[in-house]
Amino acid sequence: MSDINKKISTERREFEAGTLDESIAPNNPKELFEGWFKEALDKMVTEPYAFSLATVSKDNIPSARIVYLRSIEENGYVFFTNYKGKKGQDIEANSSVCMNFFWAEKERQIRIYGKAEKIETEFSDAYFASRPRESQLGAWASHQSEGLKDHQELSDRLEFYSNKFKDQEVPRPPHWGGYLIVPFYYEFWQGRAKRLHDRITFTKEENNWLIKRINP
Ligand SMILES: Cc1cc2nc3c(=O)[nH]c(=O)nc-3n(C[C@H](O)[C@H](O)[C@H](O)COP(=O)(O)O)c2cc1C
Repeated sequence: MSDINKKISTERREFEAGTLDESIAPNNPKELFEGWFKEALDKMVTEPYAFSLATVSKDNIPSARIVYLRSIEENGYVFFTNYKGKKGQDIEANSSVCMNFFWAEKERQIRIYGKAEKIETEFSDAYFASRPRESQLGAWASHQSEGLKDHQELSDRLEFYSNKFKDQEVPRPPHWGGYLIVPFYYEFWQGRAKRLHDRITFTKEENNWLIKRINP
């Protein structure tokens, strides 16, 4: 067996950072999410805002990538992207998505299923305006998920837009904006000793959340 495979197959981690008790957890998963989020920030976990976003294409091929959570709204979670990229095309065909946060330092994972919808253009405008100028120009320069001859092509395009918008505010490209993910299912995972992990799920039934503990 190669050294790397030996490492992969034999390294084990014990989980002992905490527990999750449904009898004292909030009845609303959004509250629990926000509680865990605050704890992740306090603990200064690496990349607390980053989550894996899974989408499914019109041909039923799943794909996942990391994006940043940029706002927690009353009815869901917002991230920003290029609407024309792969994930945008997938969501156009199938609005069901899955979000997954993993906060290693807290030994926690949160899985959320939801429906993604484009946010209002005013919301995207406001967020875009708050971004650093370089990121704003990048949103124009990058034809996300499309083929590129080489890195120079991208640099040239960045320069083109940098000249085009010289001495003026960079407007939001029409193909760039946010999605709101409205959740209908949550699963909170807390690592426990001896692999007896806690898993608590919340399923939306009309306006109520049904809480259930499931096997690890
Ligand atoms: C830490 C991290 C954060 C990222 N945040 C975003 C983001 O907020 N929005 C975005 O469109 N892409 C983000 N990306 C890039 C995506 O992972 C992905 O490469 C890109 O969006 C193209 O995905 P697609 O081809 O599936 O549409 C991030 C990547 C990493 C590693």
